[in-house]
Amino acid sequence: MTVSSAQIGVVGLAVMGSNIARNFANHGYTVAVYNRTTAKTDAFMAEFGSTGSFLPAATVEEFVASLERPRRALIMVQAGAATDAVINQLADAMEPGDIIIDGGNALYTDTIRREAEMAARNLHFVGAGISGGEEGALNGPAIMPGGPEESYRSLGPLLEDISAKVDGTPCCTHIGPDGAGHFVKMVHNGIEYADMQVIGEAYHLLRYAAGIEPAEIAAIFRTWNAGDLDSYLIEITAEVLSQVDAVTGKPLIDVIVDSAGQKGTGRWTVKAALDLGIPTTGIGEAVFARALSGARDQREATTGNLPSGQLSTLAELGVSRDDFVEDVRRALYASKLVAYAQGFDEIRAGSDEHNWNVDPRDLATIWRGGCIIRAKFLNRIVDAYNADPDVRSLLLDPYFKGEVSGLVDSWRRVIVVATRLGLPVPVFASSLSYYDSLRAERLPAALIQGQRDFFGAHTYRRTDRAGQFHTLWSGDRSEVEA
Ligand code: 6PG
Repeated sequence: MTVSSAQIGVVGLAVMGSNIARNFANHGYTVAVYNRTTAKTDAFMAEFGSTGSFLPAATVEEFVASLERPRRALIMVQAGAATDAVINQLADAMEPGDIIIDGGNALYTDTIRREAEMAARNLHFVGAGISGGEEGALNGPAIMPGGPEESYRSLGPLLEDISAKVDGTPCCTHIGPDGAGHFVKMVHNGIEYADMQVIGEAYHLLRYAAGIEPAEIAAIFRTWNAGDLDSYLIEITAEVLSQVDAVTGKPLIDVIVDSAGQKGTGRWTVKAALDLGIPTTGIGEAVFARALSGARDQREATTGNLPSGQLSTLAELGVSRDDFVEDVRRALYASKLVAYAQGFDEIRAGSDEHNWNVDPRDLATIWRGGCIIRAKFLNRIVDAYNADPDVRSLLLDPYFKGEVSGLVDSWRRVIVVATRLGLPVPVFASSLSYYDSLRAERLPAALIQGQRDFFGAHTYRRTDRAGQFHTLWSGDRSEVEA
């Protein structure tokens, strides 16, 4: 007879699951642990069993029976079919009111479906985005739980306990119903892609335009990390760049193959943005940059085999190294602001579409710690939404507007230099174009409307009168009201 004394259970004991289970135990909870392969549970118990109060289970039934009611079972398995299989096994063994939490990177539409399926069985289903990697899972991640408000009352205190804290505030809050938590985690990852790419572009320019060696670039990133760019990703960039390869003695960065992998959350962010009609150009370019980097066959055929046109050097352009380094810092900061502004636009659009009522302040608050995109300037995003919860773009917030006005000249110069040197800066450049598009009095869309009307009689609106109009292009070219 199993004693039902675990406050939480974790299914899936790969590194993320095992670290989350340990995190709960470190906070004084009794944690039921279960893995499909019992050997993994045994290995977990052998390594960590003595570090906290764990109840290992050999079967799902035993696992469920060891949980206090309402039961709380956190699934940490690979997103996709494996998650559905575990959910159904748990649901079969559970009773009304119990809570299943999916802590993986699930697609939010799957979460919406699963939540409805579990609600029909009188179970609570919570899709929770968890960010922070292995280290965060153990010592304090940022947690973005969706699902029913009611389940948060029972579950929230535990999740808040194990989450990271910034100024005493937990990096965990209820995000909204059904798929809201996984949606915002998806956009978090999209922003993560853009943030990593802009850092990559900055590195690339310092290295190949200014000719600075990785160790020195690491030192530059360390100084940047002491200012406006203070963030986890800048911090780890300096670590990666200062690492020396033990085999060759070269900077490690030079022996790593330049093809970036991706598991899908960046791509999902862009697909969702396309459906919502939100231009997340920075995230989109970052996803495409990874795709291009991974297109090995194509790159083998094209590398060194396409005309560059006339290229310059920094010296020929009369740009000093130190000025350029500072310009790159500013271009990075400006492009990063655009990526966050676009990500928050997507969250607002997703929230409106699904009636989630997501409060952007909550996100900016909980993303200040624990997660991969944690950064000091998220405090400024909190301030911006406090000042105007409906601000149409973060770029319009007076603080950010002031920041960009101090960055934009550098941003333009960096793109000119990159272009003259033939170095790719997809996110820097597209972010500036986005910014200039937002600023523009007129966009070429008027011409597109004219073309659409010409070939398909799609009609256009006029600037001076209400209504829809069509020009009789193949007739006498007079205009008619449509
Ligand atoms: C996090 C990370 C995490 C994972 C990414 C990596 O927030 O902790 O985002 O979820 O590391 O999914 O994604 P890619 O493999 O697609 O780069």
